[in-house]
Amino acid sequence: MEHGVAPTLQIYRDLGAATSAVARHVYARAVVSVRARGRFSWVLVGGHTPEKLYRLLSVRYLHRFPWDRTEVYFGDERCVPARDPESNFAMAWESLLARVPIPARRIHRLRGELRSPARAASDYARRLGPLAAHRDLDRALFDLVLLGIGPDGHTASLFPNSPVLREVRRSVVAVRRSGQPPFVPRLTLTLPALASSREVVFLVSGPEKAAAVAAIFRALPSGSPAWPASLVRSVGRTVWFVDAAAASELPDALRARVAS
Ligand code: 6PG
Repeated sequence: MEHGVAPTLQIYRDLGAATSAVARHVYARAVVSVRARGRFSWVLVGGHTPEKLYRLLSVRYLHRFPWDRTEVYFGDERCVPARDPESNFAMAWESLLARVPIPARRIHRLRGELRSPARAASDYARRLGPLAAHRDLDRALFDLVLLGIGPDGHTASLFPNSPVLREVRRSVVAVRRSGQPPFVPRLTLTLPALASSREVVFLVSGPEKAAAVAAIFRALPSGSPAWPASLVRSVGRTVWFVDAAAASELPDALRARVAS
């Protein structure tokens, strides 16, 4: 969230409506980024929620999205082989990357299959380059970071009360124990890396996320390590795209803004 600026909350009747809205939003940000800087640097999210979004982009935006100028990164990865069904890369590859003309050199995979997760993390951090100085919009690493949340309020592989939440120097770290299935070691961007973004977008769906969404918004603006997604900041904007089921425990004042 921009320093001192509250996140934007947009509520949709269901995941389909939220997904269409995020697709339009990502496309618009891509066009603006390419026009301004000649490229669109986009961090993909894992899990199941974004699969509909990726498929939609690969069909409805196949011919108009600036795929050849898009650099794709990953917010986190499970330490499994690249084609493992639990791999975030495998999900993104099958639902999006294999279906659009994005040059292979612009797909930056977190190598979860390496025997040393710490080495995979440091390799990726080198590929990202130095974290820009705080609040430096012009030198932000990413144009858009796409995130989800778990029922426990984790995001990427930043789990509740994890010491990783206190990382201020490194952009990518290995997480020995994940707090949610699959219980395998993970690789994750850290909060400083997520903050080095012109925009953070959360896509959240389902009643099982409602308690976490309410707790996260209650914890704002300072945020709480008990709800890691509440600690995510951006040097630009933070926008939440939430379906009605996931927004169902928010206070009425916040829920009054159902977009469509
Ligand atoms: C992961 C994701 C994770 C995800 C949430 C929500 O590796 O699992 O990066 O942060 O966004 O767990 O996952 P679902 O979309 O499957 O509910």
